[in-house]
Amino acid sequence: MTVPSLASSLSDTVSAAATSLGLADFVAQLRRSEHADFQADGVLAAARTLRRRPRDIAAEVVEALRADDLVAEVAGPGFVNLDLADRTLLTQLAGRLADPRLGVGTPETGITTVVDYSQPNIAKEMHVGHLRSTIIGDALVRILEHLGGTVVRRNHIGDWGTQFGMLIQYQNEQPVTVGGDDASMSRLAALYRQARARFDTDPQFAVRARQRVVALQGGDPATVAAWQDIVAESTRYFTDVYARLGVRLTVADAVGESAYNDALPGVAADLAAQAVAVPSDGALCVFFDEVRGPDGAPSPLIVRKRDGGFGYAATDLAALRQRVAELHADRLLYVVDARQSLHFTMVFDTARRAGWLPPQVSAVHVAFGTVLGPDGRPFKTRAGDTVRLVDLLTEAVDRAREVVAAKNPELTGAALHERARQVGIGAVKYADLATSRTRDYTYDPQRMLALTGNTGVYLQYAHARIRSLLARAGDPAITVDPTTTLEPAERALILDLDGFADTLTEVLAHYEPHRLCGYLYRLAQTFTTFYERCPVLRAPDPVRSNRLALCHLTGDTLHTGLSLLGIPAPTHL
Ligand code: ARG
Repeated sequence: MTVPSLASSLSDTVSAAATSLGLADFVAQLRRSEHADFQADGVLAAARTLRRRPRDIAAEVVEALRADDLVAEVAGPGFVNLDLADRTLLTQLAGRLADPRLGVGTPETGITTVVDYSQPNIAKEMHVGHLRSTIIGDALVRILEHLGGTVVRRNHIGDWGTQFGMLIQYQNEQPVTVGGDDASMSRLAALYRQARARFDTDPQFAVRARQRVVALQGGDPATVAAWQDIVAESTRYFTDVYARLGVRLTVADAVGESAYNDALPGVAADLAAQAVAVPSDGALCVFFDEVRGPDGAPSPLIVRKRDGGFGYAATDLAALRQRVAELHADRLLYVVDARQSLHFTMVFDTARRAGWLPPQVSAVHVAFGTVLGPDGRPFKTRAGDTVRLVDLLTEAVDRAREVVAAKNPELTGAALHERARQVGIGAVKYADLATSRTRDYTYDPQRMLALTGNTGVYLQYAHARIRSLLARAGDPAITVDPTTTLEPAERALILDLDGFADTLTEVLAHYEPHRLCGYLYRLAQTFTTFYERCPVLRAPDPVRSNRLALCHLTGDTLHTGLSLLGIPAPTHL
């Protein structure tokens, strides 16, 4: 049985008290406070509606709340401060300890979410920009599933477009074999760059490349086979990167842009028939009142280009329509760079007008900012190229190996490597997830591997320390005695632990994994204070057992919290 959080049951109690006083529509708005366990803020709003003095209403609420296990007081301009009895907190601790789900319910049951994330492009190496989408998307998928939701993962791979005609033509003219070893993806990417350069400088080659595009789109068997080789090679490489990152994406989740080819003419025809899209200058376009270019002229979404070809927008419209109509999505998430926000505004608006996106289905662009280099500009190599994701991961794991080895000189070989991988990849992910996703952040391997501060390593250490403490305690059946008197540090820890489920709800309210990072970081700090002030193993029972219960629950919460972020939490570090 999932135990509701103290904050939510208390909020119900306060609302019930307010209702008994005839305060309609009262919202308790509970939050943690420095002066009490909780503070209820709803009185101020109620006073405004009723044109009464807030402190008078607060006094009435306090009076109505009078109970043995609760101390309520008027505070400030009209807040209600609430303090719970030790017994209430300990009883909650006991209930939470017996609940393997840590108080987390399954509010997502019956809700289907399609999450579009990662989305690398074939014949190109993944770069630091794909890191954010992959990691944020993975965390959201894990959280949605943990809350009981049905999740369909969609890796909308960029596998279609005129550039592949160019690449295939270039390959045909240069006898090179692709595939077979680790470096083949780099070679494919290099080939792609050469093909592009040739295309830009050799008009005759450009003509042959365009013919190759026609052959590819027309289904010419040899050309299609060459394209399939490129897709297969790229897929092997993506799969390898995902394994290194430890994200849940599989080959089955990859539904590339090409998968929607057959649906594109229908998309255009339907939009035209409904007059959502109109002919403009030979193209088929959707116009928006609010969307204008720099010159003030309306800036349309192009569904079909003048040459009859379809692009990025048409594919996204086809995908969206399919996700709602066939996958029965209740919610569509697109974890994509913030620079594409206009694109998604237009795609969603078009789909609403066409009736493909009914009002009860939400579509959200889960936008994220840019990863910056040490100079505060978008992260590039010294030579000015985009940073390859694999290089960045290798570097993080190498640095993590030094950190781990310094702490554990006895660790060597495969064991050292595995630990370094957990710490290094965890650090990269945590640094990405811990900043509010819409903000840019600076990639700083030194800082993200620091043992103190808001880092993945700090949390992994906090978790491992607790596990070793519990191991030293032996494995007694931990029981909670609700009659002991609590120290302030114990109260703070119980209250923090109790906020886990509510934190996950907050994360989903705006798809913000950084709220979970902030919660786990505060929890680790609260635990540290508790551990400094309250001896555990040396305490006499039942205090010892109660404190072990706190350690246990903290360890489990850190472990589950980190795993929802896709970060491993080893028992030793
Ligand atoms: N492949 C694209 C890129 O690298 C991102 C695709 C985003 N997803 C989507 N459904 N449009 O920029």
